[in-house]
Amino acid sequence: MKGDSLLMRRIIIICAYALSAFSVYNCAMAQDSCITSECHVGINTAEFVHGPLAAGECTVCHVRGENDNPPDNHDLSDYKEGEGLCLDCHEKIAIFMEDKKKHGPIEDGECIVCHDPHQADNRFLLIENFLPDLCFNCHEDNITTNKYVHGPVAAGDCIVCHNPHASKNDFLLVSDRLTICFNCHGEKKDDLKKKWVHQPMKESCEKCHEPHGSQFAMHLKDDKATLCRDCHEKFVDKLNHSKSKHSAIAKNGCLGCHFPHASDYDNGLREEKSHLCLTCHEKMEKKILSSKYLHGPVKEGDCTACHDPHATNYADHLVSFFPDEFYFSYDVKNYAMCFGCHNNEIATEQFTETLTDFRNGDLNLHFLHVNREKGRSCKACHEVHAGNQPKHIAREVPYGKSNWMLPIKFTKTETGGTCVVGCHKPKSYDREKPVKYDDKKSSK
Ligand code: HEC
Ligand code: HEC
Ligand code: HEC
Ligand code: HEC
Ligand code: HEC
Ligand code: HEC
Ligand code: HEC
Ligand code: HEC
Ligand code: HEC
Ligand code: HEC
Ligand code: HEC
Ligand code: HEC
Ligand code: HEC
Repeated sequence: MKGDSLLMRRIIIICAYALSAFSVYNCAMAQDSCITSECHVGINTAEFVHGPLAAGECTVCHVRGENDNPPDNHDLSDYKEGEGLCLDCHEKIAIFMEDKKKHGPIEDGECIVCHDPHQADNRFLLIENFLPDLCFNCHEDNITTNKYVHGPVAAGDCIVCHNPHASKNDFLLVSDRLTICFNCHGEKKDDLKKKWVHQPMKESCEKCHEPHGSQFAMHLKDDKATLCRDCHEKFVDKLNHSKSKHSAIAKNGCLGCHFPHASDYDNGLREEKSHLCLTCHEKMEKKILSSKYLHGPVKEGDCTACHDPHATNYADHLVSFFPDEFYFSYDVKNYAMCFGCHNNEIATEQFTETLTDFRNGDLNLHFLHVNREKGRSCKACHEVHAGNQPKHIAREVPYGKSNWMLPIKFTKTETGGTCVVGCHKPKSYDREKPVKYDDKKSSK
């Protein structure tokens, strides 16, 4: 709009200047007028009449040959050739076009393919009323036929982006690619100031959007569901071939978690990483909020320490293997999930005075429970996320095929603890004064 009023002002100034110049010129050459009651009637009656015509001037363009003898005999096809016809007067346009790449027809010296030299009912003496019709006289219309047509294209405003005459930018664009879009979508310019800016966003919006419109919503170059793969092929193919995919991707697509343009958070995330997961996992959020004890990484909001947000080959897209069963044959590999952070020796030494607090005297009760053919998995006793018993001992754990919830009541003491469980009768352990068990061998 600002540009328009500037342009109008410029036009008015030029108009006034030129018309006065012409009336002086015309007075002097009054006998030259070709518009009479018989001749060239109506050549200056349209809504917009070209300056020289308004001044009754014909011979600035039409060359009056020696043999011409109007009105009976003259050759009007004999007008000045090439750009000079117009540019001799329209110096501003000539200057504007210097050093720029000219539009095809102008390259060929043609102005009147778009402008009527005499008059028109359209602004700027254009030969078509609706701008795209003018363009589509020469260009194939594969633009307005899209399912989703971009606002300014639908409004017929081609020249808000293209200069009809010439430009230093490719495709006759009125400014560089990013600025063109920011002219109307100014808020996207602020995106460039954010902490994370998607690489293609810094280059050109057309990496992802079609400027005229497309078959896909938001004028995207591809369907939202496959757009990301177009550039992140390796990444997406790898996750598609993984055994355990996060259902969020099938359900909400990549955009469920990532912004396509920019973000205040790393990797274009919609939320701070520490809170992202809980925006969808309300049950987990409730559990965390209602728990007295949060597991270290959960307390830190680091869900991705254990879960890949996209996909892996392990259940629940965990970053490493973790047995889902209550009983699981011991192998240090089977607990890679936990031993990524905790000392795996807690389950390898039968006797210890330091490695674990879960011991009776020096008898390692972790070893006792875990390290055997029918070992109890960590899950048989511990919560992985949050809970209300100390040391993340679960209140209940699923047991057997029917997933019966086996209750655990754990009482911690200064030097040991007591478990009241469905597995055996209530048992205590004490690191300093070892409890004597009837059914188990005592310490060395
Ligand atoms: C700015 C330059 C210019 C001026 C001024 C101009 N003409 Fe033309 N005129 C042309 C051009 C260029 C053509 C050829 C148009 C085409 O081929 O489509 C033309 C064609 C014509 C034609 C033949 C085709 C048609 O449109 O009927 C007539 C008649 C004509 N002019 C009369 C006049 C008269 C009379 C005046 C003065 C009152 C005048 N022209 C002033 C540029 C001009
Ligand atoms: C003898 C000088 C002269 C020639 C030759 C001339 N023009 Fe003009 N033209 C003017 C004047 C004077 C005006 C009116 C003042 C203005 O708007 O700049 C004008 C106005 C225009 C306008 C409208 C501008 C507006 O702001 O509304 C267009 C478009 C235009 N000319 C195109 C052409 C084309 C195309 C040619 C060649 C076929 C041409 N002119 C040849 C003097 C000329
Ligand atoms: C492809 C079509 C096309 C061609 C070819 C073309 N113009 Fe234009 N011209 C336009 C359009 C469209 C506008 C209206 C621009 C706007 O609204 O800002 C325009 C505007 C103008 C204006 C008035 C506004 C301004 O920028 O001063 C003049 C004068 C003008 N053209 C002269 C010319 C001359 C001289 C030539 C040949 C060298 C020419 N045009 C060739 C499409 C064309
Ligand atoms: C008289 C025929 C004609 C008209 C009318 C016309 N064009 Fe063109 N246009 C061409 C030719 C010829 C080329 C150069 C060959 C090509 O790239 O296709 C071209 C090229 C272009 C290009 C590509 C430039 C580049 O650098 O590759 C754009 C963009 C364009 N025109 C836009 C428009 C718009 C917008 C309009 C309407 C305001 C328009 N054209 C009207 C003939 C025309
Ligand atoms: C929002 C800005 C914008 C608008 C509005 C716009 N264009 Fe374009 N146009 C572009 C951009 C950007 C390109 C370059 C596309 C590319 O990089 O492939 C382009 C390319 C073109 C091309 C050359 C490449 C091709 O697709 O053939 C033509 C012709 C063209 N536009 C015509 C038009 C016409 C006609 C209109 C009005 C109906 C129009 N444009 C409206 C931005 C726009
Ligand atoms: C002349 C102003 C203008 C320019 C320049 C412009 N746009 Fe638009 N854009 C609009 C309008 C108006 C809409 C329609 C708004 C709506 O429907 O809410 C729109 C809609 C969009 C939409 C779809 C938004 C939606 O909610 O459906 C996208 C995407 C878009 N533009 C991208 C671009 C890109 C990329 C560029 C640069 C090539 C660009 N725009 C340049 C005016 C513009
Ligand atoms: C990496 C691909 C990509 C790039 C680059 C990109 N966009 Fe988008 N854009 C999208 C996607 C995907 C959507 C749809 C978002 C949605 O549905 O939530 C979108 C939506 C939009 C929308 C409408 C919704 C909104 O967020 O306002 C506008 C406007 C828009 N983009 C403008 C732009 C502009 C301007 C640029 C360049 C500065 C740009 N885009 C660059 C992918 C991209
Ligand atoms: C036009 C190509 C293109 C499209 C489409 C695209 N990206 Fe990107 N993306 C890139 C480029 C280039 C980088 C820079 C880092 C790189 O080379 O991987 C990048 C980086 C990223 C990063 C940061 C990765 C890192 O290692 O820093 C994320 C996250 C990302 N893109 C997500 C997406 C999502 C989600 C989509 C779909 C909405 C998407 N991208 C679509 C080109 C694209
Ligand atoms: C459930 C949320 C979520 C969804 C859905 C999601 N991502 Fe991510 N993405 C993340 C998180 C969180 C990170 C950051 C990982 C980190 O920091 O360890 C990330 C990081 C990335 C990265 C950077 C490389 C990396 O692994 O660190 C790329 C690229 C990426 N995502 C692409 C995608 C694509 C493509 C899709 C759709 C197929 C997608 N994402 C879907 C949450 C998601
Ligand atoms: C955009 C929503 C959304 C976000 C954000 C999200 N998820 Fe999910 N997640 C889901 C949906 C939907 C399921 C399918 C099960 C369901 O409906 O609860 C799911 C399931 C899961 C599952 C169970 C296994 C599966 O794939 O069914 C785990 C584990 C999981 N998400 C972890 C995470 C982690 C970790 C994060 C953060 C990096 C996260 N989720 C962020 C939507 C989300
Ligand atoms: C210390 C590793 C670890 C961390 C950190 C972790 N998880 Fe898990 N998560 C697991 C393991 C192991 C399982 C599978 C065992 C199970 O079902 O308890 C699991 C299962 C899940 C499940 C599916 C079963 C269920 O309980 O609903 C969801 C959803 C889930 N996690 C979300 C999250 C979210 C959200 C976070 C961050 C707040 C998170 N996880 C942090 C290890 C972890
Ligand atoms: C990403 C690292 C990480 C992973 C993986 C991890 N933990 Fe932890 N764990 C911690 C941190 C950090 C603490 C807090 C340590 C502290 O407070 O001294 C902790 C504390 C614990 C505690 C309580 C320790 C205490 O003294 O209060 C138990 C029990 C526990 N984790 C069990 C597990 C089990 C079982 C797994 C496997 C499912 C596991 N952890 C996986 C980092 C991890
Ligand atoms: C039979 C129940 C049970 C099983 C199975 C079990 N733990 Fe424990 N764990 C405990 C108890 C009880 C404590 C608390 C000891 C104390 O502080 O008195 C504990 C404490 C811990 C601690 C805190 C540091 C320490 O050793 O005192 C870690 C870490 C831990 N367990 C990890 C694991 C891992 C990893 C697994 C699976 C490999 C596992 N536990 C299996 C009952 C169990």
